[in-house]
Amino acid sequence: MNKEKNNSISSILINWYQQNKRDLPWRETSDPYLIWISEIILQQTRVAQGLNYYLRFVGRFPDVKSLAEADEDEVLTFWQGLGYYSRARNLHFAAKTIVSSFSGCFPRNHDDVVSLKGVGGYTAAAIVSFAYGEPYAVLDGNVYRVLSRLFAVDEPIDTGSGKKIFSQLAQELLDEQNPGIYNQAIMEFGALQCVPSKPDCAVCPLQHSCLALEKGVIGQFPKKRGKTKVQNRYFNYFDVRVGNSTLLKKRIEDDIWKNLYELPLIETSENVLLEEIIQNQVFIEMFPEKKSIKIQGVPVEFKHILSHRIIYAKFYRIDVDTIPLKLLTECRQIQLEELPNYAISRLVSKYFEKNRSKRVH
Ligand code: ADE
Ligand code: SF4
Repeated sequence: MNKEKNNSISSILINWYQQNKRDLPWRETSDPYLIWISEIILQQTRVAQGLNYYLRFVGRFPDVKSLAEADEDEVLTFWQGLGYYSRARNLHFAAKTIVSSFSGCFPRNHDDVVSLKGVGGYTAAAIVSFAYGEPYAVLDGNVYRVLSRLFAVDEPIDTGSGKKIFSQLAQELLDEQNPGIYNQAIMEFGALQCVPSKPDCAVCPLQHSCLALEKGVIGQFPKKRGKTKVQNRYFNYFDVRVGNSTLLKKRIEDDIWKNLYELPLIETSENVLLEEIIQNQVFIEMFPEKKSIKIQGVPVEFKHILSHRIIYAKFYRIDVDTIPLKLLTECRQIQLEELPNYAISRLVSKYFEKNRSKRVH
């Protein structure tokens, strides 16, 4: 791990956070009780919905003592409609534990916090970092996504070894001088900027540190092992022609078709139209001069079925006078007659078979 790069990523995240964070009441406090309640509510609930529940809950139960002394039935009425009611029962139970085992004072130490009923690794890290500035990195769905993209981590997030790798990475990236703010920052960054579907990488302050963006594969991250579920993938290929030549690129990632050749590609997380493709950051980097290219608006489409995935492929023919620099360095320009000399995927060869008969004009 590169310490300098990590420091720069953490400080960019913190700067971004200070400019973009939502004002939320649990961010204005260092009371571990209030932070605990907010984190439990937000575990399976969106901020917009959780906010009102949080305000009502802490209005009625402002501290450990009031919660511990309440009837469970009453506690549950404040949870009505939120779902996952074991969260409320565990909160109540843990409040009583704090009274009986910690003299009513919220525990100060990470191991004591994690021993409370319903408090897992994520929640404990959030509480002790936000409330006490203890250097424990949080790892939730947002953090998995951000880290997996920034570092293009191929390890699935839903396996034991994957979780270990991610928690090490999260801990290495943690700003030990400001663990609380840093943890808030990376979660908020995942919630608002590096969102699951179609993040706006063009405005991302980490676009130059992001390996997945550099490789044009953000849609692939985070990876999951899943349960032999069929995975849908969306490949947008470009047949970049200068006269009778096209461009081939070697697939070098650990992925299907490793080391085969194919056309330059942008993978997206869902089916997208040409209008969206041409606004994609990777596309703009491939073709910086929009005016000098001619795109055939209607792509050739295939649904290509593999054992564990279905690939929805679109092939766009793009005519150019000269090959843009980035493509020239990443690809190999070949005459169409030379195609048989290259190992290409069945999908790409289907495309060329279908189009061989069509005259170039
Ligand atoms: N989701 C989980 N914890 C959160 C927090 N502290 N702020 C906003 N969203 C969250
Ligand atoms: Fe996320 Fe895009 Fe930023 Fe990478 S460049 S961190 S994928 S928003």
